[in-house]
Amino acid sequence: MTRTIRLGDDGWSIQILDQSALPREERLLRLASLDDAAAAIRDMKLRGAPLIGVAGAYGLALALRADPSDAGLERARSVLLATRPTAVNLRWAIDDVTAHVAHLPPKERSPAAYARAGAMADDDVAICRRIGEHGLPILRDLAVTARRSPLQVMTHCNAGWLAAIEHGTALAPVYAAHAAGLALHVWVAETRPRNQGHLTAWELGRAGVPHTLVTDSAAGHLFSRGQVDVVIVGTDRTTRGGDVVNKVGTYLKALAARAHGIPFYVAAPGPSIDWTLLRGADVTIEERDPAEVGAPPGTPVSNPAFDVTPADLVTGLITERGVARASVDGLAALYPEKA
Ligand code: MRU
Repeated sequence: MTRTIRLGDDGWSIQILDQSALPREERLLRLASLDDAAAAIRDMKLRGAPLIGVAGAYGLALALRADPSDAGLERARSVLLATRPTAVNLRWAIDDVTAHVAHLPPKERSPAAYARAGAMADDDVAICRRIGEHGLPILRDLAVTARRSPLQVMTHCNAGWLAAIEHGTALAPVYAAHAAGLALHVWVAETRPRNQGHLTAWELGRAGVPHTLVTDSAAGHLFSRGQVDVVIVGTDRTTRGGDVVNKVGTYLKALAARAHGIPFYVAAPGPSIDWTLLRGADVTIEERDPAEVGAPPGTPVSNPAFDVTPADLVTGLITERGVARASVDGLAALYPEKA
């Protein structure tokens, strides 16, 4: 399967790669109802902001197939929106599909929702490809200024094709650079407690990109030894002020990068930008099941899934429209119609 999500052969069910089985096993999962889609998102059978958005859109299409009424639409929206609160792509995708179908007669709603979800998936592929194109010159220039080959890139979590539809966001420039013959090596942070770094290592391995998995706490050590030239991460939500909400642990890497004078880039597709919020502090941070942490029984555990990196620690936002400064003005210059 080259895409992380697609229409099944029956023409209506949805097929996904079950990421909870990776990297041990490549297993496909069939989603045939609203509840299937909601459970897949909630239980992280699929994950990553862009993919969550497209899965939400298909979830709405599945729901409208069973109940295309106004009440059915409203119920499906609230079930899907309740699955994961932080990645803004989910709300964006559900609002977008709703805007495309709500004015239609009920029997036309589901086909229109499928069409919109399919177009969204195609758009995501194009967006990620563009992010790769805009990120490539950054890596090329850094390889010259760092005077190092291979260029040492650090990433956190998984913002590769598994987190999107194809290409990925943060890994898109890495894949573009690798394809262009630029020598690079990626430090992959394990990303406790869900170990999305294992997914990144699996992806990079399949693509033949040299990489090394490290524990999250090893990052500071690598910076202090001068073993990192650039950090690139993805984002679940970037505010219009440029604050970046991403997988917990991102902020510490941004702080370490700043302390060592290393550039810290965020690959931020348009649908991950929340134009309604200025400050990252106002974003709801998903608190996940304490059991994920694996603490001894009875230990009080807090398990926030994301953190906020303030805009001033971000060197640049690599978007499908080019590289923006992480600020109100920087983003407004690239997205004047939103600002
Ligand atoms: O909890 P997850 O695995 O869905 O979190 C994913 C991330 O934090 C990614 O870095 C982010 O979604 C960007 S993915 C292109």
